[in-house]
Amino acid sequence: MKLYYWIWVLFFIRCTPDDSGPGRDLTGVRYEPVPYELKLPEYLEPPTWTEEHPLTKSGVILGRALFYDSRLSSNSTKSCATCHRPKEGFSGGKGGGRMTLSLINVGYDHDNYGWDGRWPTIESAIDNMIQESTYLQGEWSEIIPLFQEDTLYPILFRKAYGISNTTQIDKEHCINAIAQFLQILIARNSKYDRVVAGNTFFSPIEQDGADMFFDANPLLPDAECAHCHIPPSFTIRSFANNGIDSVNRYSDFKDAGRGAVTHLALDTGRFKIPTLRNIAERKQFMHDGRFIQLSDVISFYNSGGHRFENYSNYLHPLHLSEYQQKAVLSFLYTLTDTTLRVNPDIAPPF
Ligand code: HEC
Ligand code: HEC
Repeated sequence: MKLYYWIWVLFFIRCTPDDSGPGRDLTGVRYEPVPYELKLPEYLEPPTWTEEHPLTKSGVILGRALFYDSRLSSNSTKSCATCHRPKEGFSGGKGGGRMTLSLINVGYDHDNYGWDGRWPTIESAIDNMIQESTYLQGEWSEIIPLFQEDTLYPILFRKAYGISNTTQIDKEHCINAIAQFLQILIARNSKYDRVVAGNTFFSPIEQDGADMFFDANPLLPDAECAHCHIPPSFTIRSFANNGIDSVNRYSDFKDAGRGAVTHLALDTGRFKIPTLRNIAERKQFMHDGRFIQLSDVISFYNSGGHRFENYSNYLHPLHLSEYQQKAVLSFLYTLTDTTLRVNPDIAPPF
């Protein structure tokens, strides 16, 4: 009995990290996690992540610092915000030959991240964004020591996760904090939201656009948009071929999209249906950024795009008049929430 006891003691002395060693003791810093309140309007459900990623104020603060920190990249050259630019709807940069996906309302997503859905979880998406050479090309073995040796970060990690020593700062904490931050990027203050909340009205042209977008007025044509782009995020979060490419066979698609992941012919040329939140802030559209003007996107949908076997049945030439195309465009402009990027919990911390 006594012998066993001492074997265990010796085992623990050898295996527990040495608090007086290379790390810094953090127990002097208060750890009192406070839940972060999303304060969503009544008509908005909380995002699907909240249960998996209970939000804390200090977790979100840490996540914001990391999101804007170039120390996550090789040679500290870029941060998440270099590509997911707050002024361009948290989109705008390019990586791996594709446009950056917007991060607005990404908390409403629950799987299949990326244009082709190749990342099953938000954690794997964030981890790959940090490590892959086309994005940040960061090395966890180099990143973690930078945060451990920093003066401020250990305090932020302590406040967010209750760690007692800087040696406990790890990749999982970084990823979880960024995931918490992404979860608060919820658009809620666009003109569209104010109309839904009953606080204002659309102008007549915006109303006509909304009616065509949602097929809500029998006197106006159906623009078919809401089969794929539905509120609150203006996406049904699945994959489609919306006919931007003219192809004769599956191998003609320059980018196989979803097909490269599932290896199903029918998925070739299908891409994630992106959110249309803050769409008017973006400067390029579609996975390859082929359209420069939002009005070009409307003309494209009006044309019906290119038919092919896996082309969505919802798409066809719309025959919208000039005015009607302008109306759909005016409606898309109402989806911009300009308060999001200046929200003090979201704006760059330094
Ligand atoms: C060099 C530009 C670049 C940087 C830097 C970058 N991203 Fe991305 N991000 C992209 C591109 C491009 C995509 C779409 C990738 C694809 O589908 O092939 C994307 C996709 C994502 C997605 C998936 C979104 C969805 O709706 O499926 C998430 C989440 C994401 N990025 C988070 C981050 C985070 C967090 C960081 C910082 C750690 C970051 N990104 C840094 C360019 C970048
Ligand atoms: C069959 C589903 C479907 C329908 C219907 C549809 N879209 Fe899309 N939309 C998509 C897909 C898929 C993409 C991304 C395609 C790509 O990049 O390859 C997209 C992309 C977009 C984009 C560019 C977004 C970005 O981040 O680059 C806009 C804007 C857009 N759609 C608006 C509309 C409007 C307006 C309508 C109605 C006129 C409409 N969509 C109808 C599936 C659809």
